[in-house]
Amino acid sequence: MQAELIIAHAAQLLTVAGGHGPKRGTAMADVGIIEDGALAVRRGRIVAVGPTNEVLADFAAARVVDARGKVVLPGFVDPHTHLVWAGDRAGEFEQRVAGATYMEIMASGGGIMSTVRATRAAPLDELVAQSRARLDRMLAHGTTTAEVKTGYGLELQAELKMLAAIALLDAQHPVDLVPTFLGAHAVPAEYAGRADEYVDLVVDVMLPAIAQGVKGYGSGENDLTPNPSPITPVFCDVFCDQGAFTLEQSRRVLEAARAYGMGLKIHADEFEPLGGTRLAVELGAISADHLVCTSPEEIELLAQSDTIGVALPGTPFGLGHHQYTPARAFIEAGGALALATDLNPGTCWCESMPFIIALACRYMHLTPAEAITAATRNAACAVGLGEETGSLEVGKRADVIILEVDDYRHLGYRFGTNPVQTVIKRGEIVKEGSTA
Ligand code: NIG
Ligand code: FE
Repeated sequence: MQAELIIAHAAQLLTVAGGHGPKRGTAMADVGIIEDGALAVRRGRIVAVGPTNEVLADFAAARVVDARGKVVLPGFVDPHTHLVWAGDRAGEFEQRVAGATYMEIMASGGGIMSTVRATRAAPLDELVAQSRARLDRMLAHGTTTAEVKTGYGLELQAELKMLAAIALLDAQHPVDLVPTFLGAHAVPAEYAGRADEYVDLVVDVMLPAIAQGVKGYGSGENDLTPNPSPITPVFCDVFCDQGAFTLEQSRRVLEAARAYGMGLKIHADEFEPLGGTRLAVELGAISADHLVCTSPEEIELLAQSDTIGVALPGTPFGLGHHQYTPARAFIEAGGALALATDLNPGTCWCESMPFIIALACRYMHLTPAEAITAATRNAACAVGLGEETGSLEVGKRADVIILEVDDYRHLGYRFGTNPVQTVIKRGEIVKEGSTA
């Protein structure tokens, strides 16, 4: 049979295959290695995976990529990013190095609010241009699908502008983007001391407008006429932490979002344990993210649930902290763990999933195989795309990366350089032949 593209003779091809849904517990260590492996692609989907001699016996293609001496695996899925923002916070980084804490900077009007000011002020095309440069680096490091949150607008028009930026980037760029509404990322300065009133705005004004696909951004100042929505968020997230939103406020936002049919996510236990993980399980959230200071009881509860735990080891690293998600306990209790960058201008400006894997191996004691499962299959499940991407199985999108190494354990082992040589997105080669 004719295919459009064949990748053949991989030293190791990792399928990360296995039934439906995420891999849990000990199953995370099984990445499905095929030596001298191959795969064939037709119309952007995988039509065959297996030993090279078997695939080549059944398929021919005009384009055959020789992966001799290389590792082939699913493109990374980054299930937690704040990709879209304007400006930077290099000055705050310098303050933190000198001893100021993230929460002190936030309490004095910097932090997230500093990026909110820059993002509100940026024209849409500028916001898209700055974010596209980051998305290009994500792709170069092997990410083929990413979740992207709003949350630097914190007023309806600016949140819609962020959604418009996500929609434009999704349309223009090979990386598939999954939008999440994070209106409850911080209490904006104009609501200081009135957090409950800001939650009213999120629940009564922003969520209905955004979830019902209201009104495009950009048709005029404060124009809420029924243009098609730039993009309807799939998920709603909330930053449940000290200095952000309480457990009760988080519950209000998530319950309202659930009533609109949105999937739920939560930033839980990044700085202080407020009970966000338990809430995620109770509400049936698709994921609970951060989980740095989660109690052993809640780790156990999460592990027994269908909610995926998303660890973001770039964030404690970026903050210079020493406490990481207790991933071993979570996996050993049978949990489904995913990994993400948390790419954002405050705590973790990192576009590289290979670097996140290197951190996860060292500080969360994942094996390279577990970390790869967490960054591919389980990450796809954490954004609701487990049936589409995240593994190399017949019928799935041909989202594939080729590493310039012959043993998958070099992922994790090495860091600071980019092992990703070739990136294939929906069957198209979108990065070729260089590790720069
Ligand atoms: O995931 N915790 C909240 N949000 C981000 C930080 C965002 C920022 O500082 O701009 C995080 O760490
Ligand atoms: Fe985050």
